[in-house]
Amino acid sequence: MKRPEDLRSHRWFGGDDLRDFSHRARSRQLGLNPEEHLGKPVIGILNTWSDINPCHMHLRERAEQVKRGVWQAGGFPLEFPVATLSETFQKPTPMLYRNLLAMETEEILRSYPIDGAVLMGGCDKTTPALLMGAASAGLPAIFVPAGPMLRGHWRNEVLGSGTDMWKYWDEKRAGLIGDTELAELERGLARSPGTCMTMGTASTMTSAAEVLGMTMPGAASIPAVDSAHHRMAAASGLRIVDMVWEDLTIGQVLGKDAFADAITTVLALGGSTNAVIHLIAMAGRCGIPLSLAEFDVVAREVPVLANIRPGGAYLMEDFYYAGGLPGLLSRLTDLLHTDRPTVSGRTLGETLEGARVHNDDVIRPRDNPLAAEGGVAVLHGNLAPSGAVIKHIAAEARLLRHTGPAVVFDDYPDLKKRINDPALAVTADSVLVLRGSGPLGGPGMPEYGMLPIPDYLLAQGIRDMVRISDARMSGTSYGACVLHVAPESFVGGPLALVRDGDPITLDVPARTLRLEVDDVELERRRAEWVAPAPKFERGYGALYSEHITQADEGCDFDFLARPGANPEPDVR
Ligand code: FES
Repeated sequence: MKRPEDLRSHRWFGGDDLRDFSHRARSRQLGLNPEEHLGKPVIGILNTWSDINPCHMHLRERAEQVKRGVWQAGGFPLEFPVATLSETFQKPTPMLYRNLLAMETEEILRSYPIDGAVLMGGCDKTTPALLMGAASAGLPAIFVPAGPMLRGHWRNEVLGSGTDMWKYWDEKRAGLIGDTELAELERGLARSPGTCMTMGTASTMTSAAEVLGMTMPGAASIPAVDSAHHRMAAASGLRIVDMVWEDLTIGQVLGKDAFADAITTVLALGGSTNAVIHLIAMAGRCGIPLSLAEFDVVAREVPVLANIRPGGAYLMEDFYYAGGLPGLLSRLTDLLHTDRPTVSGRTLGETLEGARVHNDDVIRPRDNPLAAEGGVAVLHGNLAPSGAVIKHIAAEARLLRHTGPAVVFDDYPDLKKRINDPALAVTADSVLVLRGSGPLGGPGMPEYGMLPIPDYLLAQGIRDMVRISDARMSGTSYGACVLHVAPESFVGGPLALVRDGDPITLDVPARTLRLEVDDVELERRRAEWVAPAPKFERGYGALYSEHITQADEGCDFDFLARPGANPEPDVR
């Protein structure tokens, strides 16, 4: 147990030299008497609330409940507004800024008198960003997930954000619904604060945070507006104070076994392909190398148990009532490392005692899974030497072994301009290829990976085709979309060499992706290839471009991912 004089914040306030005098004087300027915080754990609440982020609109109020818990436990809370990464509004993609929030998190925790951290986020990249930064900072930390929004509704139908947006937009393009229906859908898709309520990237990553041991038990599944969410926030505030006294740092929680369990869980959830990139990056911050191969090995052994859209039928609200993540984990205990620590102070296994499933259709038993294999397959071949991924459970089965001629788009503007041009003569057997959409080319790997199917094919009833890109795909999307092709085309990956009409073979059971063009011809094309000009000449974009790694490496900045000295600030 720590003593008050062992607290990190004590270095700012506890001495009797000029600096401590100055810090205490400025605390008084904040309206604080020294006895209010001296000798108490100072808890930094890093809040990604913003007016622009509908997924986090309740976090300003929820921070008050965290503070309530911190006060009750004898700590001293300080709230720090940090960057918000709104999946909906930030362009070209919040993925461009994940590492910026991670840097901000790390440096806020390092540079201020903070003893422990409460990390508040949930909208897609905010979860990995906050955890990556906190892992590098190394203090005790607990994550408060924003929680999913309530189910969407339209007429008598339940709507899933993202998933049903894509679905009904395609219905509109196919002429099956009109403007009246679309206006009604617009009002019903997202009707409460909280993150997307499908098993998109948000719920995938907050569930990963929970099984990693970084949240209070059951936290990730609680709907954002449920009163249980308020209580979870307060409990997190209470707990972080004890974690500081116990010196339970994030490094003690996030070990190799924790990441192994996160992979198992993400696959059993049928979670977002984005989790592959984020978990590799998060593990990298903990000095734990994760490879794409590990996801594929686990995927072959772990069935999908969560019957949640886009792969399944239900939504996160149903998942919560069915027992939530603890319920699902209770069906996987033989595959998990249940004796490892969590922020709750109990082992993972202890947190799962009493966990139950209340609806076997929402959380399937192991002998009646939604899919026998996990939700992600890793592909290799001459088109993806460093790998690619496909969420094959969200694709039409007939496309999982498919050869077809390529129809190539150089970048997203090219795709938008030409996709509906009948002169392209795209057929249902064509393979749509989008390049220029990777970490550097996108930039930021925008979620372009669910390439739109041409209107004239939609009108014929075609709803899925093989699509290949170096982009990512929203966790709420679906289809036979090969993603994260590495290395990306922008740096000369083989995707840059594909030409219209080239046969491409996707074979998911064999885990291969091949461009059926001989090596001599590919070498000839490579010799002709001209590297594109850098996207950025200055600013954050230039820093990003100089240091971003490829998808199979987690898209972290090389200088953040590597080990090495980054000393505590000299307070004197
Ligand atoms: Fe924020 Fe989906 S837009 S979680």
